[in-house]
Amino acid sequence: MSASDFPVEMLRRRFPALRSAGSCVFFDNAAGAQVPDGVIEAVRRHLIEHNVQRGGRYPRSMAVDAMISWARSHVAALVNARQPEEIAFGMNATSFIRMVSLAVGQMLEERNEIIVTDLDHEANVATWLALERMGAKVRWWNVRQDGCLHPEDLRSVLGPRTRMVACALASNALGSVVDVRAAADLAHSAGAELFIDAVHYGPHGIIDVQALDCDYLVCSGYKIFAPHMGFLWGRYEALTRLPAFREDFIPDEPPGKLEAGTFIYENVAGMAAAIDYLAELGRTVTGRDGPTAETSLREECRAAMGAIGKYEQSLSLELLRMLQNCGAEIYGQRDERRLQERVPTFCFNLAGISPAAITQAAAAEGIALRDGHMYSPRLMRRLGLSPDRGAVRVSLAHYNTVEEVRQLGTVLSRLRPSAPPAPAR
Ligand SMILES: Cc1ncc(COP(=O)(O)O)c(C=O)c1O
Repeated sequence: MSASDFPVEMLRRRFPALRSAGSCVFFDNAAGAQVPDGVIEAVRRHLIEHNVQRGGRYPRSMAVDAMISWARSHVAALVNARQPEEIAFGMNATSFIRMVSLAVGQMLEERNEIIVTDLDHEANVATWLALERMGAKVRWWNVRQDGCLHPEDLRSVLGPRTRMVACALASNALGSVVDVRAAADLAHSAGAELFIDAVHYGPHGIIDVQALDCDYLVCSGYKIFAPHMGFLWGRYEALTRLPAFREDFIPDEPPGKLEAGTFIYENVAGMAAAIDYLAELGRTVTGRDGPTAETSLREECRAAMGAIGKYEQSLSLELLRMLQNCGAEIYGQRDERRLQERVPTFCFNLAGISPAAITQAAAAEGIALRDGHMYSPRLMRRLGLSPDRGAVRVSLAHYNTVEEVRQLGTVLSRLRPSAPPAPAR
């Protein structure tokens, strides 16, 4: 399906929040996306029909167990896990990164070096830096002037003591996609593991943990059209080895060992429904209809993400040209011929206007943007920006439109630099 055939108007009608927002434009998707009707219905149904604790012998409780196992298989299909037990559910991505990093911290011994990047969201940096107190040595895989991470640069940071490489699949500030498969090959050849933060990439492309050959990967459901929740994928053997906090009577096996306490079941039901939404989109774009078997669920999600990716590239092109026409300084990858190496997330500044003034002006016109450091303060410094001020981020999702991008263009083109302060007499 070409980008111009992407059924965006039909999809927008599936998102009640977009319908109720009227003419407002939602360009803050990197902070959390809207949810389709099926997700709302799944949460509602769970709360009405199954709002009980799992593990009981009565029908409602057994239905909760069944829903969790259904959702686990769904998420396993979404990321191409080898088995559903490789998926753990929880609050968010940060708490899973923290859980894995704390566990790795207990197993450091001779291999005590952790590699982090200055492209990443701080959730995938600070959590690993905290291991310094447990004897870890942190090494940096830095972005180059082009705002991208180059795998060749990782080679020189890796060594016989590297225990873990932690990096993003896509930058939540610049939108650049990282060649994590190359990073996995390099990390494994040094005897290290690879931890992927796929939070920002999740809504924009299909994740394939087997093709990426990573060892751990985290996502936030609320970025992938589900309610607030997160999930962890890990190689089964790697999860088995991790020391994780659990009550003594919980078997030391994934996924139970990684799911201490009660997670938010209704949001897990919503996550499964978000995957059903993607599968349905996959069927629409391939012209196939009918019930979904577990094997085809993956193919349907892949088709949906393929169509989303193409459509989002057309939005990226429009946004890139619009920002350039407005004289914006765009950070990171801005080559029209390399749009497939990015997701539709752009950070920019306009000379003489503060990022906060830009987002305020946009808000006054009903356009939701974000300004600041995007939880990537090290990246901001690397780009020569003060983290306090940062940049403006426009982050699109597949339900955004070219018309909305043009609306933003109209707002930006009207902005004038504020007058420089009068010289002191
Ligand atoms: C790339 C990236 N990593 C991690 C996080 C943190 O995710 P969570 O809120 O699920 O902990 C975010 C949130 O915006 C993110 O964009």
